[in-house]
Amino acid sequence: MNTAHPTAGGGRPSRLPVLSDDRVRLRAFRAEDLALIVEASADSLIPLITTVPSSSDRWAARAYLTRQARRLSTGAGYSFAIADAGDRAVGQIGLWPRRDDPGRAGIGYWLAASARGQGYAGAAVRLVVDWAWTIASIDRLELFIEPSNAASIAVAEATGFAREGLLRSWMRIGDTRRDMLVYSLIRGQSESGPEIAPPLSARATSPKS
Ligand SMILES: CC(C)(COP(=O)(O)OP(=O)(O)OC[C@H]1O[C@@H](n2cnc3c(N)ncnc32)[C@H](O)[C@@H]1OP(=O)(O)O)[C@@H](O)C(=O)NCCC(=O)NCCS
Repeated sequence: MNTAHPTAGGGRPSRLPVLSDDRVRLRAFRAEDLALIVEASADSLIPLITTVPSSSDRWAARAYLTRQARRLSTGAGYSFAIADAGDRAVGQIGLWPRRDDPGRAGIGYWLAASARGQGYAGAAVRLVVDWAWTIASIDRLELFIEPSNAASIAVAEATGFAREGLLRSWMRIGDTRRDMLVYSLIRGQSESGPEIAPPLSARATSPKS
C-alpha cells in the first residue's frame, strides 16, 4: 500500500493515493467508471444516502464523477472508487473529516449490488482506516449505520469498530427520519478496543438466558 502523501494545510493530504491489497484497489474515479454509477442509481438505498443520482441519466452520472474529484480540491474529504483486482470500479468509499472538528472523520461506503458478498467492503474499510491514521489531525473515525443494515453492521464489526449507541431520529433518509447506530475507532486503541456495547452480531447469536 502506498501511503506517502504530499500535504495541503494542516497536514491534510493534497493528493488521493492509491491504496490496495490483494482484493481491492482504492483509487480516484475515472470517466470510464460511468457504468458503475448508472448501476448504483437503480439501487433502493444508495441514491438516498449519497449523491449518486436516482435516475440512470448519463449526464447526472458524469456530474457525480466530477463531484468526487472536487471533494479533494474543496477540502470536503477523500472519495475513492473501490475497484476489484482487475481495476473495474465496483463501489465507492469516502473519508470525510468534519469541518467543525477535523479530528473526527466519518467513513461511508457502498458497493454495486453485483459486487456484494465478496468481502470488498471490509477490505476497503481496512485500507481507508490504515490510511486515515497516517493523517496526523485525525483521532477518531466514525460510521453511522441504520439498525436494519445487517451487511454494513457486519462490515463495521469485522473491521474492529466499536458500537457506541443508537442515535434516535438522527438522519433524514428519503422522506423519514431514521435512527442510526454510531460506531467508532479511536487512534491508538487496539482494533477490538474497550467494548462499549456488545456487538450486535454477538447478541444475535448468543444463547437466551
Ligand atoms: C453495506 C455494503 C457495502 C456491504 O457490502 P457487502 O459486500 O454486501 O458485504 P458482504 O456481503 O461482504 O457482507 C458483509 C457481512 O454481512 C453479512 N450479511 C450480509 N447481508 C446480511 C444480512 N441481510 N443479514 C445478516 N448478515 C448479512 C455477510 O454474511 C458478511 O458477513 P461475513 O463477513 O461474516 O461473511 C453493501 O451491502 C452496500 O453497498 N449496501 C448499500 C449501501 C449501504 O448500505 N452502505 C452502507 C451505509 S452505512
